[in-house]
Amino acid sequence: MSTLRTLAFLALIGVCGCQASDCSYLGLLTHLNLTTTNKVMADMRPVKNWTTPTLVLIDMLVYGILDVDEKSQTVTSQIWIKMHWKNEFLTWNLSDFCGIDRMTIPRSSLWIPDVHIEEDVSDTGTIQNSPVVSLSPSGWVLANTRQRLTSTCLVNVKLFPFDTQHCNISFSSMTSDVETITLGTVFNDTLLTAVSELFMVTRGEWELENMEIVHYIYNCTIGRTSRLVYTVTISRKPMLYLIIFVVPLFYFVLLDVCSFFISEARGEKLSFKVTILLSISVLLLILKDLLPSTENHLPMIAMYCIGIFALVGISVLETMLVGFLYDLDGYCCNAQTPDDVQVDIQLEVDFHKESDGAEEPPERSSLPLNRPDDRDLLRLILEEVKTARREAGGPKDDERRPGYYRRLSKIIDSVFFTLYFLTVAGFLTYMNIMWMTQIISI
Ligand SMILES: *[C@@H]1O[C@H](CO)[C@@H](O)[C@H](O)[C@H]1NC(C)=O
Ligand SMILES: *[C@@H]1O[C@H](CO)[C@@H](O)[C@H](O)[C@H]1NC(C)=O
Repeated sequence: MSTLRTLAFLALIGVCGCQASDCSYLGLLTHLNLTTTNKVMADMRPVKNWTTPTLVLIDMLVYGILDVDEKSQTVTSQIWIKMHWKNEFLTWNLSDFCGIDRMTIPRSSLWIPDVHIEEDVSDTGTIQNSPVVSLSPSGWVLANTRQRLTSTCLVNVKLFPFDTQHCNISFSSMTSDVETITLGTVFNDTLLTAVSELFMVTRGEWELENMEIVHYIYNCTIGRTSRLVYTVTISRKPMLYLIIFVVPLFYFVLLDVCSFFISEARGEKLSFKVTILLSISVLLLILKDLLPSTENHLPMIAMYCIGIFALVGISVLETMLVGFLYDLDGYCCNAQTPDDVQVDIQLEVDFHKESDGAEEPPERSSLPLNRPDDRDLLRLILEEVKTARREAGGPKDDERRPGYYRRLSKIIDSVFFTLYFLTVAGFLTYMNIMWMTQIISI
């Protein structure tokens, strides 16, 4: 009897429980009038009074910086957007439905705010909307979206490779003004930055520094519109560029300075310098592929490259000049042989003239020139005079003229080396100071 009574009591409780609360999603959907296709829910802005603006809260997380294209001035990143807004018609009491505090329904069955990113230049298909949206008892709807976002960003490469970029990602409604849709965020920028850094997947060339959120109202064609701007600050990791540009260029200019100690005698110095010049031009070619051809902000690294290229170019020219002066000695020495031959010939001719017209002058006719022995003797004397002349005049020429050019080339070389060394040192110091002050000032 007592067991029967207990069973009846339990059954009564069960029935009462069933009537008091429905534990199935179906019951909740029925309560929210979403079981049949309720098209109105997808069409209208879910407010009971049309003058109430819908507050749309957008939290954005950046969890990957895939690429920064300096040439086309775009930044590609992976973002996650959490969008919250209130649907005033979809509320329920937790106690009525067994404490169901979250339910998902297809995205297509609800009204979704038409918020877009103004800087977006992504291809279609890069947006991945979650197929369902999540409802909470108070009527808040949450829609998740992940996107590979390619956004325009004014990339300033003046301090490349030590640059920091500030890129705006602005959210606004495409059609609604501020009286209809107001934008905001749930979390503040510090928290969003911290969470983004925690979930950052790609750790490539760029590092997320900071995210700042600015919310303001601006006037545009559709009236006063609410706008939410995330300013994402990213900084480049410069190590790779230091290794492939800055350090090699420094060594090239150092090698060029050291090449002044290579002996002038052979042509090695010139070819060495030209090789350095070619190596620098290869680096310039690589740089050309990396950087945009902006005229107003010439990157510091381009100035550095061009400066070193010009310095090495000038030193190549100087080496050519010095080599030419050095070789001028050789030309002078070689030029002496024809002179001697000429002297020989002249002497020979003089001798023959004298011998031919020997009888004509009466004073000379007395000289015994007609005899072959005398001729030989005279020739011998001439030979002696010539050798004496060569010994007396030759070495004088050999010592004075080659010494002159060689000494000149040496003076030019040492003066140029001093100037060059000072210029290079000055240039490197100047670039260093400029670079550092600009980096610090940012
Ligand atoms: C569902 O619709 C019925 C009538 O169509 C209405 O009385 C009820 O208030 C609606 N429920 C909600 C939650 O809007
Ligand atoms: C980014 O947004 C901030 C805040 O609205 C603004 O001051 C800045 O000029 C914007 N920068 C660019 C490049 O549009």
